[in-house]
Amino acid sequence: MKVLICGGGISGLIGGIVMARNPNISVEIYEAAPEFLPIGAGIGIWIRVWDLLAKLGLSDDLRSKTASATTPDPIDALIFRKSDQPEGVEFYTLVTNGPFITFHRHDFQQTLIQHLPSSCKMHHSKRLSTYTSLPNGKIRAYFEDGTQVTCDLLIGADGIRSTVRDTMLREKAAKHADVGNFEDAYQTLVANQPLWSGTMCYRGLIPMEKVKADIEKGNLTLEECHIQHMGKNANLIVYPIANGSMINFAAFYHQPDKVGSVFEGPWVQNVPKEELQAAYAGWEPSVQKWMKFIENPSRWAIHTIRPLDTYVADGVALIGDAAHAMVPHQGSGAGQGIEDAYFIATLLSNPAVTVRDIPKVLAVYDAVRRPFALDVCRRSHLNGSYYTMNNPDFKYRLAETQAGTPEQEKILKELGVAIKNNWEWAWTVPFDDNMEAGLVMLKRMMNNVGEQSAVVQDNGFVSAVL
Ligand SMILES: Cc1cc2nc3c(=O)[nH]c(=O)nc-3n(C[C@H](O)[C@H](O)[C@H](O)COP(=O)(O)OP(=O)(O)OC[C@H]3O[C@@H](n4cnc5c(N)ncnc54)[C@H](O)[C@@H]3O)c2cc1C
Ligand SMILES: *[C@@H]1O[C@H](CO)[C@@H](O)[C@H](O)[C@H]1NC(C)=O
Ligand SMILES: *[C@@H]1O[C@H](CO)[C@@H](O)[C@H](O)[C@H]1NC(C)=O
Ligand SMILES: *[C@@H]1O[C@H](CO)[C@@H](O)[C@H](O)[C@H]1NC(C)=O
Repeated sequence: MKVLICGGGISGLIGGIVMARNPNISVEIYEAAPEFLPIGAGIGIWIRVWDLLAKLGLSDDLRSKTASATTPDPIDALIFRKSDQPEGVEFYTLVTNGPFITFHRHDFQQTLIQHLPSSCKMHHSKRLSTYTSLPNGKIRAYFEDGTQVTCDLLIGADGIRSTVRDTMLREKAAKHADVGNFEDAYQTLVANQPLWSGTMCYRGLIPMEKVKADIEKGNLTLEECHIQHMGKNANLIVYPIANGSMINFAAFYHQPDKVGSVFEGPWVQNVPKEELQAAYAGWEPSVQKWMKFIENPSRWAIHTIRPLDTYVADGVALIGDAAHAMVPHQGSGAGQGIEDAYFIATLLSNPAVTVRDIPKVLAVYDAVRRPFALDVCRRSHLNGSYYTMNNPDFKYRLAETQAGTPEQEKILKELGVAIKNNWEWAWTVPFDDNMEAGLVMLKRMMNNVGEQSAVVQDNGFVSAVL
């Protein structure tokens, strides 16, 4: 079986690592970038994703790149503070099973690259321009430099502006239009366009040296390095990365009236710090203290992909951000891409699976992973509305109470619990549930028994069952 992975980001690399272990699969990665530069910011994963990486034998090397614990014991992961006032109030301690395990994104990606088996080549400077389906069921991929590659399966791991998705959705739209189904054709093309979430993220990395100097002066405490500050239309999160040698700073600013509008200009841009300061004017001193470390924050306009009807077409599958780019409010975008890649690669590696069975593998992938990833998108979005105090369940009630009063404390406590309930899947629901459902479903399909369906579990999570 010949598999071509388009995109060497975190999702694509995991796909390569798992598939290349099976001698029956020949897999190569085609990546647009000439090289991966040591830029970027922090990235974190939850224990369910860590367990999966450990299964792949990556834990020792990854552990040397993080100061986070990697055991599943309950831990005070984050303190929530309401900070959009002169004196902030701490209102909730988020206890999770295992911490948010944090890395410098470049360290994380390089570790994956080191674990790519030598049989899986990664070709750089190869930007996909389009693909076509051949009459024999194979896929031909076309690159901007004129090269063409034929494969049995094309995996689109090419991020939020995915070319694979673009080609797939255009083909689907054309098929709808061919039978006069113009509404569906239109909706399919609309779904291809990334949507601005109305949120900006100002990111920066702060050397721990500088922070230490302030801690020694008594102007900052170590506890302040693990806090989520929340308030009207904004939230700020800080956490250590790169084995504790840097602090990752991510300050979100949300404009409710801009949700879904078209963002003009580059999505990532360096901006003067005044813009960031303006977003947090009037917030408590502990927030102001972080601002002074940030000189030229990079400003990210956070975009998402609308829920797609399907992640697959004949011989093609979308994984990671290409399929479901989401707002980053549950620290789970990359984790979901890792799970997609591991899931599809594990099904393909089943000894009984041959090229003939690819459509079944894709059907199972779509049936199990799409509802799950979409639910994570929804939860992340909800999380964002909580952090920025825009959720209608709390917004109006909070507005009617005064800071520091027992009434407000009670509402904030409820808010903390709502955030936890929305998020705890990340440290309580194991990925194995998904994987097992997929393996059983595939086995049934290969034996031509049973129909798949999706159910909503007690915890509100959608999973596939038979
Ligand atoms: C502010 C912010 C904070 C975040 N924090 C977290 C976090 O803490 N935890 C977490 O899990 N997630 C987080 N995320 C989300 C996470 O960064 C993404 O979900 C993840 O990087 C997606 O990985 P990917 O491999 O699917 O796509 P990408 O990382 O976008 O990789 C796509 C790759 O494909 C290549 N490519 C693109 N087009 C082509 C083409 N035509 N041909 C060939 N190659 C191509 C690109 O060069 C790139 O290397 C955050 C996101 C943001 C914006
Ligand atoms: C990580 O930090 C610890 C404690 O500061 C140090 O002992 C260890 O050598 C560091 N690991 C690496 C790989 O830098
Ligand atoms: C502490 O930080 C605040 C906020 O940045 C700053 O105004 C103040 O001068 C600092 N104090 C000391 C002693 O560094
Ligand atoms: C490779 O394929 C052969 C023939 O289908 C099969 O017998 C064998 O178990 C496969 N090997 C692996 C590692 O899946």
